[in-house]
Amino acid sequence: MNWIYKQPVEIVFGVGELGCVAQRLGNAKKALVITNSFFADNENVKRVIAELGAAVFAEVSENPDVSEVNRCSRLIREIKSDVIIAIGGGSVIDLAKAASARVGDIREYHGTGKLLPEKENVRVIAVPTTAGTGSEVTNVSVLTDRETGKKCPIVSDGFFPRLAVIDPLLTVSMPPKVTASTGIDVLCHAIEGYWSKGHQPICDEFAVCAAKKVFRWLRIAYEQPENIEARINMAQASMFAGLAFSLPKTTASHACSFPLTSIYGIPHGEACGLTLDFFTRVNSVDRRTAELAQRLEFSSADELADRIYELKKQIGLRVGLSDLNLSENRIRELVKKSHHPNLLNNPIEITDEILYSLYNELRK
Ligand SMILES: NC(=O)c1ccc[n+]([C@@H]2O[C@H](COP(=O)([O-])OP(=O)(O)OC[C@H]3O[C@@H](n4cnc5c(N)ncnc54)[C@H](O)[C@@H]3O)[C@@H](O)[C@H]2O)c1
Ligand SMILES: [Zn+2]
Repeated sequence: MNWIYKQPVEIVFGVGELGCVAQRLGNAKKALVITNSFFADNENVKRVIAELGAAVFAEVSENPDVSEVNRCSRLIREIKSDVIIAIGGGSVIDLAKAASARVGDIREYHGTGKLLPEKENVRVIAVPTTAGTGSEVTNVSVLTDRETGKKCPIVSDGFFPRLAVIDPLLTVSMPPKVTASTGIDVLCHAIEGYWSKGHQPICDEFAVCAAKKVFRWLRIAYEQPENIEARINMAQASMFAGLAFSLPKTTASHACSFPLTSIYGIPHGEACGLTLDFFTRVNSVDRRTAELAQRLEFSSADELADRIYELKKQIGLRVGLSDLNLSENRIRELVKKSHHPNLLNNPIEITDEILYSLYNELRK
């Protein structure tokens, strides 16, 4: 098997590292901090902003909209920013990556297949505050166009952050619900990266390591938000899982998450996790899925699927969609809109019949 491994992001990891961001800016002249309303008020973030004399863009919603990217991009051009510090969850980091390209209208590149111009982006320092997306080490920016209802990723090598500063202390303030949803996203990245058609050996090792940490630490982080050992391990797991899927890409659970989030507002991680045990069973006939289960110390892929289901229950995540009272038409809409390219990266072909049985099972 032939493969290429590429990972251009410098990673700084450690408790309290946010305080050292200012020392890592080199000769930057105008910094822009991109964050969300929660962190715009955080004392440590305010200190960083003051220290850098940075401008601030804090109008970032969950599942950021293309219009927010365009507004941020305009600001970057106006103030001639030459370094962006993105402090937030995947939503903030993804918006920062897309805005760093400084194109007039990001919609031209959103789900259209058109490549971003190959000019140099403004460099991004990514500081994650969730343990979830791994966006700080990937070249992916997931955006939503609320006008058309489209949610999909843009992939560009220009999106690799120049530096990831991972400070687990920043994740302590996550409410349990956010810890649970973002944490199950880590498991999806690890498992989907491993069984994906695009798998490769270096990423496999990151995937196994990340998945083991999630099974060991996510419930503890959920139940004991201030448990720093759990937060450190989940922050590492998130970054490892980011490295595990960045090249191989995700598969069926992520494909199904896009309509579940854009139509029903289910948070990204929870939407991905909702179908992970189902696809583990579907993929159990695949050699590598069985191998992954073994490497995670389960006797079979079915046992792995049972454990995923149990974890979701333990951390208060959805295991079904019965509260939505989905009609037959709604189920058919979900089947149709789950046909995202990531579905083709699944090791087993996912037909409309399989998707129908998935959503039919979830609606009961
Ligand atoms: N780029 C990638 O590689 C990649 C991978 C997976 C998902 N995504 C995308 O990332 C987005 C989801 O990101 P996310 O799961 O990190 O969630 P998020 O960034 O949307 O944050 C979820 C919520 O938690 C709040 N929050 C974040 N950190 C907090 C903290 N430490 N304390 C208190 N509140 C906090 C946010 O303000 C927000 O309300 C989705 O759009 C998803 O599609 C991107
Ligand atoms: Zn994800």
